[in-house]
Amino acid sequence: MTDHVRIFDTTLRDGEEAARINLNKEEKLQIARQLERLNVDIIEAGFPGGSEDDFKAVQAIAREIKGPVIAALCRTSEDDVRKAAEAIKDAEHPRIHVYIATSPIHMEYRLKMTKEEVLSEVRGAVTLARSFVEDVEFSAEDASRSEIPFLVEVFKTAIDCGATTLNIPDTVGYAQPHEFSAFIKEIIKGVNPPKNIIWSVHCHNDLGLAVANSLSAVRAGVRQIECTVNGIGERAGNASMEEIVMALNTRADLYDAKTDIETQKLYSTSKLVSRLTGMVVQRNKAIVGLNAFAHETGIHQHGMLCNRATYEIITPETVGAPAVEPPLSKHYSKTAFRSKTENLGYQLSDDMLDTASKLYKDLCVRKKYVSDDDIEALILDQVLSFTPEQRFTLKDFAVQVGTACKPTASVTLTCDGHDFTEAAVGNGPVDAVYSAVKKILKITPQLRGFQIGATSEHSDAMAETRVVITFKDIKAQGRGTSTDIIESSVRAYVDAINRLYDSAAAKEVKLND
Ligand code: KIV
Ligand code: ZN
Repeated sequence: MTDHVRIFDTTLRDGEEAARINLNKEEKLQIARQLERLNVDIIEAGFPGGSEDDFKAVQAIAREIKGPVIAALCRTSEDDVRKAAEAIKDAEHPRIHVYIATSPIHMEYRLKMTKEEVLSEVRGAVTLARSFVEDVEFSAEDASRSEIPFLVEVFKTAIDCGATTLNIPDTVGYAQPHEFSAFIKEIIKGVNPPKNIIWSVHCHNDLGLAVANSLSAVRAGVRQIECTVNGIGERAGNASMEEIVMALNTRADLYDAKTDIETQKLYSTSKLVSRLTGMVVQRNKAIVGLNAFAHETGIHQHGMLCNRATYEIITPETVGAPAVEPPLSKHYSKTAFRSKTENLGYQLSDDMLDTASKLYKDLCVRKKYVSDDDIEALILDQVLSFTPEQRFTLKDFAVQVGTACKPTASVTLTCDGHDFTEAAVGNGPVDAVYSAVKKILKITPQLRGFQIGATSEHSDAMAETRVVITFKDIKAQGRGTSTDIIESSVRAYVDAINRLYDSAAAKEVKLND
């Protein structure tokens, strides 16, 4: 009989912890809804003890998402466990995920705890978590650099206190596949757990082996894999969900274990996560990269014409990659437009669908080629509003550039029904408009990230800009699209500014002195 491997998605927790990613509650909910459609088994929604924003996002996901288990991560402190319990208490299937490090280096230098102290933390936290929910997971952070006899003791303690999922993280991506599976087998043998225990792994990608290590763990008996969409996460990231799912699916002959993931939704999920996080997917990335199904050389194309299986072990249809879908005809029906947006991963209300359809028609007048990416960009930026309050809106801007003059810009923002205009010079047109915005706001956020791309390969493509700014220790990301690259840059900046003010209000931080 083929076993079920549970997919524990941690895109919203470990994925969101990656540098330069900062999702707000609405964006996290949008991703959680897509993970529900994808049919993941567990969604790790966040780390409620980390911040008030995280707490609220986990709570919103727990209240809305039905089907998957909703997990909240916590350290072993009483306060952390209580916050996790409170955040997920309304979930249909709540889980508390407790962790503490077990490796000598972490215990000595970071935790400053002895083995006995760590064991006592495990006992206290798992017991407390179990008093709130039946489903408790325990992770031994940095397990792959921990001593096996101590790990066995720690896991036995967690089981005795009521944990039913035991996670063996390769926190620093140090393990090698053959060694990792032997390591896991030895732990399982030492613990000799009751039948209801599910073993899990959580692999980081520092040596590019997160997926390989996760798969070797399945061979050793593990039945839960922690992973993220597009492999995002701390440093080099986590194991990529789409790669794990498709490896188990394509080589079912080797694993005798499979997932319940709706593979046709992998591509749209990857796109959604990439757009919302601003983490671009490399072109040649397995499964979801733009080139993943592109056959370029004549010999390969000839092979494909004779029999697709010559060069294709997975069809694009299996993962919902774009070749499958014809473009919308000019006179499309509402049903066709709905189906197009759903295939792209968006569930829109009737009103939203009408707005999107109108914007799409306007775009078709302005552009010869309208791609799926253009549709996604307009849905994300003009239909679904992820910034709760648009304190500032861009009313107008103008730039002057040339080879003999310094780039100069003037910008008008509207706030509370009043217009504010400023002009500034800069090192380039974008620098000039950003300086004008800063003059209006009388604050000087640091620009930490700036990325500009095109939604298609045609010269009339929409420009898509993402920025990350920080001010007074608050980080905010923004996104903007337009057929004009400077306008898309200003829109992204104003979006980030709105989010900055929003986070500052939630944290009760005054931005203007
Ligand atoms: O990498 C890690 O060890 C983690 C744990 C909290 C599971 O993210
Ligand atoms: Zn991790």
